[in-house]
Amino acid sequence: MLPSNLYSITILVFVICSVSTAYDIVVYGATPGGIAAAITAARISSSFSIVIIEPTSYIGGMSTAGGIGLRDLGLEITIAGSVAQDWVNNNYKYYKNVTNPIYQPDMNVSRQSFLDLLSMYPNIQLITGTGPLIDKSIQMNSTRIVQVTTFDDRRTWKASVWIDASYEGDLVRYSGASYTWGRESRNQYNESYAGVQPYTTFANFIPNYPVNATLDNGTLAPYISPDKLGQVGSADLNMMGYSYRLCITPNQKKQAPFVKPKNYDPNNFVILQRYIDSLMTSGKYPTGPPFDKLVDVLIYRGYPSGDKFDMCDSFGSAFTSDAINLNRNYVNGTTQDRLHIAEIVSDYVLGMIWYILTSPFVPEVTRNSLQKYGLCNDQWPENKHIPPQLYVREGLRLINENVFTQNHVVSGLCRNDTIALGSWVHDIHVVTRTVNESYVNNEGAMFKSIAHINGSKSGSAFEIPYSILLPKRNEVTNLLVPVCHAASHVAYAATRVEPHFMLLGGAAGYAAAYSILNGNIDVQTVNISRIQETLLRDGVLLHYPVGHCD
Ligand SMILES: *[C@@H]1O[C@H](CO)[C@@H](O)[C@H](O)[C@H]1NC(C)=O
Ligand SMILES: *[C@@H]1O[C@H](CO)[C@@H](O)[C@H](O)[C@H]1NC(C)=O
Ligand SMILES: *[C@@H]1O[C@H](CO)[C@@H](O)[C@H](O)[C@H]1NC(C)=O
Ligand SMILES: *[C@@H]1O[C@H](CO)[C@@H](O)[C@H](O)[C@H]1NC(C)=O
Ligand SMILES: *[C@@H]1O[C@H](CO)[C@@H](O)[C@H](O)[C@H]1NC(C)=O
Ligand SMILES: *[C@@H]1O[C@H](CO)[C@@H](O)[C@H](O)[C@H]1NC(C)=O
Ligand SMILES: *[C@@H]1O[C@H](CO)[C@@H](O)[C@H](O)[C@H]1NC(C)=O
Ligand SMILES: *[C@@H]1O[C@H](CO)[C@@H](O)[C@H](O)[C@H]1NC(C)=O
Ligand SMILES: *[C@@H]1O[C@H](CO)[C@@H](O)[C@H](O)[C@H]1NC(C)=O
Ligand SMILES: *[C@@H]1O[C@H](CO)[C@@H](O)[C@H](O)[C@H]1NC(C)=O
Ligand SMILES: *[C@@H]1O[C@H](CO)[C@@H](O)[C@H](O)[C@H]1NC(C)=O
Repeated sequence: MLPSNLYSITILVFVICSVSTAYDIVVYGATPGGIAAAITAARISSSFSIVIIEPTSYIGGMSTAGGIGLRDLGLEITIAGSVAQDWVNNNYKYYKNVTNPIYQPDMNVSRQSFLDLLSMYPNIQLITGTGPLIDKSIQMNSTRIVQVTTFDDRRTWKASVWIDASYEGDLVRYSGASYTWGRESRNQYNESYAGVQPYTTFANFIPNYPVNATLDNGTLAPYISPDKLGQVGSADLNMMGYSYRLCITPNQKKQAPFVKPKNYDPNNFVILQRYIDSLMTSGKYPTGPPFDKLVDVLIYRGYPSGDKFDMCDSFGSAFTSDAINLNRNYVNGTTQDRLHIAEIVSDYVLGMIWYILTSPFVPEVTRNSLQKYGLCNDQWPENKHIPPQLYVREGLRLINENVFTQNHVVSGLCRNDTIALGSWVHDIHVVTRTVNESYVNNEGAMFKSIAHINGSKSGSAFEIPYSILLPKRNEVTNLLVPVCHAASHVAYAATRVEPHFMLLGGAAGYAAAYSILNGNIDVQTVNISRIQETLLRDGVLLHYPVGHCD
């Protein structure tokens, strides 16, 4: 642990040798949403000074450093005209014989594409490695963020408008804007899918072959929470497990070996072993489950086809690469807490693989089918082929007077304040793992097509209003929030995908520009029609199907 006075020492040093620079717009987080925001703002005026500051050394967030690309996209037409579209259109340049848009490029291609797009705007500066924000980082004047200090690089940043595009939302957190995390109750926003969820598929792992939650010596097995689950529909602070989205490949020429994590204990994987055993005794896989049936292995990138896969949990299995219950206190934790959580998640994901490869209790079928794969040796070479970015599926969420909820998603309203179309289902993996009647109990997963427009279901579009980006006006008036935006846990399950973050980022960039051009007016009073007009000119759709709201 850091001594508690370390930060004050840092501040002292910092006062003496810091660099302070004033910008029109500071974007915090070089995520896809942050990059989109900087680009749209720069389109409005080449005289804006814009900087993207990124706490880590990587850019492109989950689409580059985390391994996801723009995969979760319903209707492709919903990103037409946006920076997201520009990005998918740029990726093919780095592949031979490909001319079509690529949603899941290699991570180095993704990074290069983001840099290509940014290079078209000389008034955007990109600065990485600033280090995370802490509670002493932000200086406010009433409701305006005046300046932000980043301590790793000893700099202060001033800006007229701020955009928090990080997954953690620390600019929101330390600015005094209201926020929350975890799950609301059903009553809070009248959401039928809110709060603790009823018993569902894989709740006890395999039907009729439940997995005992207790070790032989009477202690609870690892990765099971001793907490009692609340009543169905009640609120709690739990969220879907975080993970590292490994890139794995069956192509031997592209393989790097799997690695044993720093802290490995085979006893941590008792539950996994019991799950494998019950898959065998239940007759589902009598000789053992193949690895790609044990955890989900998704097609990762199509170039060339079948070459690379994403190790991802979804709904095909009960024990997976999601590190359930390990992300508690991440959102409101200190930098040290978060580093610790990132480490235990990494140990979990790599440890699970290592267990299957080396445990004598794992059936040969399972082990052999995993041995066909290796890590992708051409991805993240600087980080031993492991994604450097923790997959924070849901961090904090802004709260304002118009939180976007399940009922807004399903309503299919033709809104007059729409700034983006969403097109994904309510997609949440397991949230908690507790004990129910002495058995392991997975809870919280859902994959529900509850978005309707005019009666259409899954894959259709829903309208997202400008207000989703805004803190309360009596709290912060020069901050826009495209990633940790104002949505409930249920709505966020549908809004949390990278294409949406890029659409919301794009709208945030225009909003920032119009705030400045109108004399630094509060972001809450920016003319929404003006933003919409600009988006429409780009070719972005605000209603779907076309003509639906005419
Ligand atoms: C590209 O296309 C040409 C002509 O069809 C073919 O000869 C070549 O092998 C292809 N290259 C790759 C990398 O697929
Ligand atoms: C705060 O903002 C007000 C209004 O712009 C200004 O008059 C005042 O000087 C500012 N205070 C500080 C401490 O910067
Ligand atoms: C709650 O939501 C349902 C739709 O799911 C709606 O029919 C009902 O009127 C809402 N109730 C209140 C009190 O808003
Ligand atoms: C506990 O398990 C029983 C059946 O095994 C099920 O009926 C009940 O809904 C479960 N409770 C929870 C909270 O999952
Ligand atoms: C679970 O395992 C523990 C420890 O071996 C044992 O005491 C307990 O009876 C088991 N529970 C069930 C339901 O089999
Ligand atoms: C039970 O066994 C586990 C795994 O070996 C160990 O971590 C734990 O401390 C043991 N508990 C007791 C009460 O001995
Ligand atoms: C974060 O919130 C939890 C739950 O309210 C609390 O137990 C924990 O102490 C908090 N952590 C910090 C660093 O504030
Ligand atoms: C980067 O992407 C290309 C595809 O254009 C791939 O062939 C290459 O191996 C990748 N990796 C590195 C580390 O350059
Ligand atoms: C949308 O309609 C409401 C109600 O008529 C109105 O108050 C609001 O100003 C309109 N907003 C826009 C952006 O047109
Ligand atoms: C808002 O912008 C629209 C579109 O440019 C314009 O027609 C309208 O007059 C503006 N409203 C105000 C109050 O400036
Ligand atoms: C919406 O539904 C109505 C009634 O079924 C139908 O007449 C209309 O064409 C639909 N509109 C669109 C845009 O699909």
